[in-house]
Amino acid sequence: MTSPPTRPVLDIDDVVYDVAGRRLLAGADLAVHPGQSVSVMGPSGSGKSSLLMCIMGLVRPDSGHVTVAGQDMNGLSSRALAAHRRRHIGMVFQFGELLPELTPVENVMIASLLAGDSAGDAQSRSERLLADLGVPKTTATQDLSGGERQRVAVARALVNTPELLLADEPTGSLDGKQRASVADLLFRTPRAHGCALVVVTHDETVARLADVQLHLVDGKLAQVQEAR
Ligand SMILES: Nc1ncnc2c1ncn2[C@@H]1O[C@H](COP(=O)(O)OP(=O)(O)OP(=O)(O)O)[C@@H](O)[C@H]1O
Ligand SMILES: [Mg+2]
Repeated sequence: MTSPPTRPVLDIDDVVYDVAGRRLLAGADLAVHPGQSVSVMGPSGSGKSSLLMCIMGLVRPDSGHVTVAGQDMNGLSSRALAAHRRRHIGMVFQFGELLPELTPVENVMIASLLAGDSAGDAQSRSERLLADLGVPKTTATQDLSGGERQRVAVARALVNTPELLLADEPTGSLDGKQRASVADLLFRTPRAHGCALVVVTHDETVARLADVQLHLVDGKLAQVQEAR
């Protein structure tokens, strides 16, 4: 007996996106299922971050569809889109984008509070996640190492248990050892949390950890090889 096919968490269907008179995405297609990881490589300026912006619904494709957790991102009002994004998508930015005035726990909690959780719930979940990810408890945000900061950024992306986790060059600013540990943490996440993961990276070692490796070439996503 075969198991029923799962619905993809992310479905990109023939997306075309032009910016400043240039075609960045020219019929991009991609389906990512729960528990699956995908890496996207491509030259600087090829449109990788723009692809993530389309997935988040922060920019609108000129044609085609982006569906996240069963919802067409183009079919929502801006308020409903923001709520859908908060509920279903976690994003890890390249430099972590933490607020130095807040403690690491508060940096994670903020995403949970924005999603409407109580302060008590937000705090206990954030503390648990940070402990699981090995972030020191009492260190100020500005004193954390680059790798620890990235772990806080990963925790913040995970605190609302998203179905889709996105990361834009999450290891770009890290040295070898920290890079390996943050990459390991990210690629363990789909297995641990059952979410789908899309990682944009310039680093081939990181890209190879994904179940599916893609290149963004001439505005299309082309499969490099099955990684495993
Ligand atoms: N709003 C905008 N207005 C004008 N040009 C833009 C805009 N957004 C993106 N671009 C241009 O589109 C191209 C693709 O940008 P994008 O940030 O998606 O590239 P990238 O593949 O992520 O590059 P990198 O690897 O350097 O991060 C770049 O040349 C960028 O300058
Ligand atoms: Mg980019």
